[in-house]
Amino acid sequence: MKKTDKKLLEEFIRVDHAGERGAIKIYEGQLLALKTIMKNDELKEKIEEMKVHEQEHADFFDKEIKKRNIKPTKFLPLWDLLGIGLGFSSTILGNKAAMLCTASVEEVIDEHYQNQINKIGDDEKNLKNKIIKFREDELHHKDIAYKNGASKEGLYSIMDKIIKTSSRIAITISEKI
Ligand SMILES: [Fe+2]
Ligand SMILES: [Fe+2]
Repeated sequence: MKKTDKKLLEEFIRVDHAGERGAIKIYEGQLLALKTIMKNDELKEKIEEMKVHEQEHADFFDKEIKKRNIKPTKFLPLWDLLGIGLGFSSTILGNKAAMLCTASVEEVIDEHYQNQINKIGDDEKNLKNKIIKFREDELHHKDIAYKNGASKEGLYSIMDKIIKTSSRIAITISEKI
């Protein structure tokens, strides 16, 4: 039976806890823009629907982090601010940018969860199954984003790279501190 490395396990739960909370914050920022300056009820509904899944993901890791006595990342307050800022600013740039934000983040999360799934052993079956399920939800969000206008053409490709690089940095930091 493959056992999960204990230190890695702590890092996984710490970073996933931060990431799922960050996802909620991004959507909150987007909804704030959609309720104020960028009225778009169709997009608002889609985002509200995805946010329900993120809440389920975040609740799971919130329980895990408490149950296992793992310290959350010290950067939570900063991620909250940056998440809301990213959500808000991408949405005021328009529908394409808002959906690209979701697509870019989910592409990073797809890799990130797949990497964890590969490293979690049979001693952590429940956790592994949850992450497998959450990854599927994230892939579904990515599809929603592309169906609703996410684009990587022209300047959007730069935005995609910036969002991906920042997400990866946030992941690395949240694993450790
Ligand atoms: Fe999620
Ligand atoms: Fe998601």
